[in-house]
Amino acid sequence: MAFDRTSLMRLFAAATGRRRFLAAVGAFGGAALVQRVHAAEAGIFSLGVASGDPLADGVVLWTRLVPKPLGGGGMGTRPVPVQWQVARDANMRQVLQRGTVLALPEMAHSVHVEVHGLEPARSYWYQFKAGSEVSPVGRTRTAPAPGARVERLRFAFASCQHYEHAYYSAYRDMAAVEDLDFVVHLGDYIYERGPTANQPRKHDGPEITTLEQYRNRYALYKLDPSLQAAHAAAPWIVTWDDHEVDNNYATLIPEDDQTPQAFAARRAAAYQAYYEHMPLRLVSLPKGPDLQLFRRFTMGDLAELHVLDTRQYRSDQPCGDRLKPRCPEALAEAASMLGDRQERWLLAGLNLSRARWNVMAQQTVMAQFDVDPRPESALFNLDQWDGYVAARERLLRYLAARRPANPVVITGDIHSNWVFDLKSDFANPDSATVATEFAGTSISSNFSKEFTAQLTAAMPSNPHTKFFNGDQRGYTLCTITPKQWQTDLRVVTNPIDPESTVSTLASFVVEDGRPGAQKI
Ligand SMILES: [Fe+2]
Repeated sequence: MAFDRTSLMRLFAAATGRRRFLAAVGAFGGAALVQRVHAAEAGIFSLGVASGDPLADGVVLWTRLVPKPLGGGGMGTRPVPVQWQVARDANMRQVLQRGTVLALPEMAHSVHVEVHGLEPARSYWYQFKAGSEVSPVGRTRTAPAPGARVERLRFAFASCQHYEHAYYSAYRDMAAVEDLDFVVHLGDYIYERGPTANQPRKHDGPEITTLEQYRNRYALYKLDPSLQAAHAAAPWIVTWDDHEVDNNYATLIPEDDQTPQAFAARRAAAYQAYYEHMPLRLVSLPKGPDLQLFRRFTMGDLAELHVLDTRQYRSDQPCGDRLKPRCPEALAEAASMLGDRQERWLLAGLNLSRARWNVMAQQTVMAQFDVDPRPESALFNLDQWDGYVAARERLLRYLAARRPANPVVITGDIHSNWVFDLKSDFANPDSATVATEFAGTSISSNFSKEFTAQLTAAMPSNPHTKFFNGDQRGYTLCTITPKQWQTDLRVVTNPIDPESTVSTLASFVVEDGRPGAQKI
């Protein structure tokens, strides 16, 4: 157990803060002052609040009652009523909607409230109350109405937040961004492994495989005050990568030697805990080891967001996975990153989209990148789309043929910043650029320094690669208008300083109608 009671209390005090404390007093009446002190002791809202999956008329609101975050929750075996409110103001004075839901023990006393009847493209604030305790206040925002003219959208995307490797200064900075419409999380929200030595923070126990262990691991991560602040600042649209279950798993094939039955049970536990801790709608409720996470969001006429899941349905990594020359398996027509059903869904959605920008939010790097700088030999990361060449060609060919407007791929997984032109033929630099890819660095997860030199040396032989930086943690800020997409790479000065400053490392633009990124 990494935390004693004192450090937990300190974390919680930091997480709530005076401003939110005062907001809480305003919300559910004057008596809340005493109640808030009690809440700080019990910490029933110790994981904060969140909202997500914004539609034009509403969002989903999330919290979990958890007085013992690292010890199974501590709420017992009975359902507990939770009141919620949505207001037009941050002080929770103009309450527009309220209701009561039951936090169920089989859902780890999490609640997912789907609010409807709100106005499009507006900010709202929300808060929960359970017993005599009130939660911090969160801000959220509805999506613009489908087809409505939208002049600007601003969103952040993030991935890979290994708790042990660094602090979450990136999230503190993200929470302070003005006018954030939403946040996209591209996965590796938690990591499954046991604790390691000589790190700034420590995991709470051995590699997790059971539902209770996954729940405790989410709780450990969610105790972080900067992560809570980012959740409370804007609605999140989440998808996962591998570490929410097991490193580099594919469909029902685990990394280590678990039986398929044991791994299916593990995946079911991991997916259940994911649902419980994310602001997802009821349609995303898992059924055993299955959870459909691919889904689509429409942001007026400006952007369509196709959220992908490249773990649950993919064929096994070819050629034994890892960094290798390609074997024939990597080129197999039957190899799939998305699975048949999701692939058809994606292509159909791209075809139908009328949005100015088509964003594909997904996990592993889509661009080809030959890590071996020598012309006579090649090395590819076979967990990425480079191991699924035919699947990538199907998608890029489709983009070239059907020409949905301005396809932009946003990517996590790789713990480093990359900007790519996605080419119709990666072997031919003169071939058409059909889309743009921004792979964002990790919030906190390490990137091996030894790789940096090798990857930098390989840049000239991968001329569609516009940018690489492996040295810094952070997140990516995107500002979209009808004429232009701008990406700002926000990076943390010192990842092991919880108060670190954050600055812009580089900015890129994509112009409407002209795929490919330009540095500004
Ligand atoms: Fe990661």
